[in-house]
Amino acid sequence: MVHLCQLLVLPLWASTGWAAAIDRRRDTRSTASLDTCLADAVGGEDARVQFRDEADFNTTDVKPFNLNLQYQPVAVLYPQTTAETSAIVKCASLYDHKIQARSGGRDFINKCIGGDDNAIVVDMKYFNKVEVDNTTGIATVGPGQTLKALVNGLIDNGGRYIPHGSSPTVGVGGHLMVGGMGLTSRQNGMSIDVLQEVEVILANGTVCRASEYENSDLFWAMRGAGASFGLATEFKFQTKPEPEEIVSFSYNFTSSNLTVLGEALKAYHEIMRDPQLSRKVGITSRFTAASYILTGAFSGSEADFDALKLADRLPTMSTSTVLPGLSWSQFMNSLFNDAGKSNDAGYFYTNDMAVTPETIPSNSSIDSFISTLTSGGEDAQGWSFLFDLFGGAMNDTPENGTAFPHRNSIYFLTAYTRTAEKTPATAIKLVDDAVLSLQNNKPENYLGYAGVPSLSYGDEAQQKYWGSNLARLETIKAALDPNDIFSTPQGVKPSSSS
Ligand SMILES: Cc1cc2nc3c(=O)[nH]c(=O)nc-3n(C[C@H](O)[C@H](O)[C@H](O)COP(=O)(O)OP(=O)(O)OC[C@H]3O[C@@H](n4cnc5c(N)ncnc54)[C@H](O)[C@@H]3O)c2cc1C
Ligand SMILES: *[C@@H]1O[C@H](CO)[C@@H](O)[C@H](O)[C@H]1NC(C)=O
Ligand SMILES: *[C@@H]1O[C@H](CO)[C@@H](O)[C@H](O)[C@H]1NC(C)=O
Ligand SMILES: *[C@@H]1O[C@H](CO)[C@@H](O)[C@H](O)[C@H]1NC(C)=O
Ligand SMILES: *[C@@H]1O[C@H](CO)[C@@H](O)[C@H](O)[C@H]1NC(C)=O
Ligand SMILES: *[C@@H]1O[C@H](CO)[C@@H](O)[C@H](O)[C@H]1NC(C)=O
Ligand SMILES: *[C@@H]1O[C@H](CO)[C@@H](O)[C@H](O)[C@H]1NC(C)=O
Ligand SMILES: *[C@@H]1O[C@H](CO)[C@@H](O)[C@H](O)[C@H]1NC(C)=O
Repeated sequence: MVHLCQLLVLPLWASTGWAAAIDRRRDTRSTASLDTCLADAVGGEDARVQFRDEADFNTTDVKPFNLNLQYQPVAVLYPQTTAETSAIVKCASLYDHKIQARSGGRDFINKCIGGDDNAIVVDMKYFNKVEVDNTTGIATVGPGQTLKALVNGLIDNGGRYIPHGSSPTVGVGGHLMVGGMGLTSRQNGMSIDVLQEVEVILANGTVCRASEYENSDLFWAMRGAGASFGLATEFKFQTKPEPEEIVSFSYNFTSSNLTVLGEALKAYHEIMRDPQLSRKVGITSRFTAASYILTGAFSGSEADFDALKLADRLPTMSTSTVLPGLSWSQFMNSLFNDAGKSNDAGYFYTNDMAVTPETIPSNSSIDSFISTLTSGGEDAQGWSFLFDLFGGAMNDTPENGTAFPHRNSIYFLTAYTRTAEKTPATAIKLVDDAVLSLQNNKPENYLGYAGVPSLSYGDEAQQKYWGSNLARLETIKAALDPNDIFSTPQGVKPSSSS
């Protein structure tokens, strides 16, 4: 299945080869420990290998995003080259330790620190290249930078663009592993849809290039389930010229009466279910106990935007703002500047659902969502629900075209609750109950986005994230990582039949 991958020959193994090195290490564990293997992998530079017994390890190196989930890794490493990263992965395989990459560190359940104790964490911060070939428009991008740095890098390299999500602090690496969708995805698809090639380090340390033409099973798996298959060290994207003109808009419903906000939510569902809606429009919307705010981008002129008559399809607003004629960089800067505190570490919990035209909540499900939240009580003011419109060009790729399976979805819900201290079970239950009411108490009808993972999924997590693509993923996993080295509790597990 996998061929053409290059085994990096490193000083450590050079004389004996990989298999002999494994035997040697296994025989001499007393002298050659995991710790020395890891330290050797980064050339013995202390600052780039941090172990759990070091004083500032938790605050400087582990830095959990979700403070409810205080996992303890064995080590955090900061490689600077592909060869060093390969050597780290080999240590993990040799000593049978779980390993995960960390790019932006924005996974909601801390999968980048293993999603459990005892993982090896590979921080990709030194992998931060952005280069654009201005004859082909192909961008070569490192996983270790944020979306904000990527956007600025593409703009600075000749005004280029790819589709991606809306948070400035999300990392390119993790974003590509799950999909990457944002306000221009209805027109241009997802980040994984413009990915041409990825460099991946496999469980045995082999460095592989994967594309449609080379190691295509691996390429398929990396686009939606990547974290279970390898460690991505470089991406190549087909960029386009940046959008010429953006109309930014915001419709604001403010009320402490959730029933009033619920009417706006119902009207927005009518817009989301409209198959004729222009692909040039993208919308995210945030429902809280005090307001319901829709924020969007239209790619085109003010006149064309006005012709959509979006506002006419919604109830009377408290305020509205329409900013036409923005350049792509003006628009992205204001979007990133407005990003809220959900970008910062804190105590929170997430749930989510992917919604298709067949499973879009009815008005009565929305009524039941409102009454669940209205009776939620004091304990649960920290909740918010994002109703994000997608579909469009995202639906042009077949469900089995990449590992990301949600190609018939038209919107995604992110349910979120954030608390000042450890999130209590009552706050979690309120969010879960609200999601269940939108689902008309039929959770089995809905999948979820791997980018918004939820601990509520239990044993069904893999089925929720990858749906009909799961069986093929398990087969590829068995071939490439049979010992589940690239592992988290909710990751793809190797099929037992292969
Ligand atoms: C505030 C916020 C807003 C968001 N908005 C959007 C949005 O608009 N659109 C959208 O699509 N998603 C969105 N997301 C989800 C986001 O895309 C995912 O959480 C993404 O996985 C985060 O990437 P990261 O690099 O920051 O995460 P990390 O925590 O570093 O990584 C997440 C997972 O990917 C793995 N991983 C990271 N880097 C690599 C690598 N180089 N090779 C292999 N595996 C790797 C990690 O091991 C981990 O399992 C949002 C998340 C947050 C927190
Ligand atoms: C670091 O965090 C772990 C996990 O919560 C905890 O067990 C350990 O005591 C912490 N170490 C320090 C020095 O605070
Ligand atoms: C391509 O990039 C080079 C180097 O940055 C620059 O000198 C050249 O003008 C660019 N060409 C085009 C067509 O943008
Ligand atoms: C929404 O409107 C309310 C009331 O007019 C105002 O206080 C709030 O700042 C507005 N929010 C946004 C994001 O526009
Ligand atoms: C909330 O609004 C609804 C619909 O307008 C109204 O019937 C209800 O009485 C209001 N509730 C409160 C507490 O004001
Ligand atoms: C649902 O509610 C919206 C907003 O009130 C309304 O426009 C729509 O017709 C309703 N749908 C049905 C099927 O009643
Ligand atoms: C993907 O699905 C299509 C249509 O169902 C099918 O024809 C095709 O063989 C599938 N491809 C793979 C690789 O399974
Ligand atoms: C590493 O694993 C890949 C995928 O299974 C395989 O093709 C390759 O030959 C392996 N390399 C070594 C050196 O064992």
